[in-house]
Amino acid sequence: MIEKLNGIKEEALKEIETCNDEPSINNTRSKYLGKKSSFSEVMAGMSELSPEEKKEVGKVSNEVRKDIEDALNKRFIIIKNEELNKRLEADKIDITLPSRKKIPGTKHPLTMVREEIEDLFISMGYDVVDGPEVDSDENCFEKLNLPKSHPARDAQDSFYITEDMLLRPHTSSMQVRYMTAMEEKHPFKMICPGKTYRRDDDDATHSHEFSQVEGLVVGENISLSDLKGTLECLAKRMFGRDREIRFRASYFPFTEPSYEVDVSCFNCGQKGCNICKGTGWIEILGCGMVHPNVLEFCGFDHTKYQGFAFGVGIERVASLKYGVTNMRDYFTNDYRFLHNFNRKEM
Ligand code: PHE
Repeated sequence: MIEKLNGIKEEALKEIETCNDEPSINNTRSKYLGKKSSFSEVMAGMSELSPEEKKEVGKVSNEVRKDIEDALNKRFIIIKNEELNKRLEADKIDITLPSRKKIPGTKHPLTMVREEIEDLFISMGYDVVDGPEVDSDENCFEKLNLPKSHPARDAQDSFYITEDMLLRPHTSSMQVRYMTAMEEKHPFKMICPGKTYRRDDDDATHSHEFSQVEGLVVGENISLSDLKGTLECLAKRMFGRDREIRFRASYFPFTEPSYEVDVSCFNCGQKGCNICKGTGWIEILGCGMVHPNVLEFCGFDHTKYQGFAFGVGIERVASLKYGVTNMRDYFTNDYRFLHNFNRKEM
């Protein structure tokens, strides 16, 4: 029996050497150690042996089994290594190829200016709010003290969607939304940045699509000097100390008194150019003290509360800051233009 076992071992080890994949290893394993193998047959004969013989044959059979198992495992590892090496060879990557240049994105100049304005007002304790670009006639005009007959409501000037829904022509609609939505009326400070639309002929300084930041402060004892101080902060922060600012009496139905605020022209040093249309000044915002009617329309007691409001054009501010002379550049998304801002050389 011992001879038989050793014979099985010898045969098995030889065959294992010729295995070159996983299935053949498995086949060889069941052929030599499986239930129907000659090894199992020999083991079945053990019952007829004497106790001493059993001991001896048992020892040898354990060794034979172990040797065969070890040889199978060793061979299996060799096969797997060979497979891996073959795969590594086949998947070789040529790392000497130059990679494609990655062009990092930059913030749009309008986003940069909007965020800078937001930062300033957040630092002064303002809420920053968002609102819809499509709004009702009531929010855009009616509650802002623009009566039905007012020329600004002419369909020629705004993009109407239905008879009383339109693309908002200014962010002032957010004054109405904010004040009306407030359940218990109390003092507040808010700004609302957003897109606005007007039927304008597009040229170097006009676009039918533009953006504003609306500001609105309501409280007790709010005065014109609060408005002036706030806008001076804004002007200094956005344009630096060299730019001059002037307040011009103006008219908006929703403020009384009303002003337009101009900043000195960045392009021509106030000699007069096509940007400032020869005046040396560029209008950047409209503002004023909130009209008592607007406070009342939106549920605020005008005998108790006053407020100031302003609307600043983000494109104007961005042009001043970055010397952009053509409004259209903001909207055409030409990479060569956008890449001039926040440029990183990589
Ligand atoms: N809504 C005005 C405009 O678009 C600007 C403005 C806002 C004026 C708030 C006064 C107060 O021109």
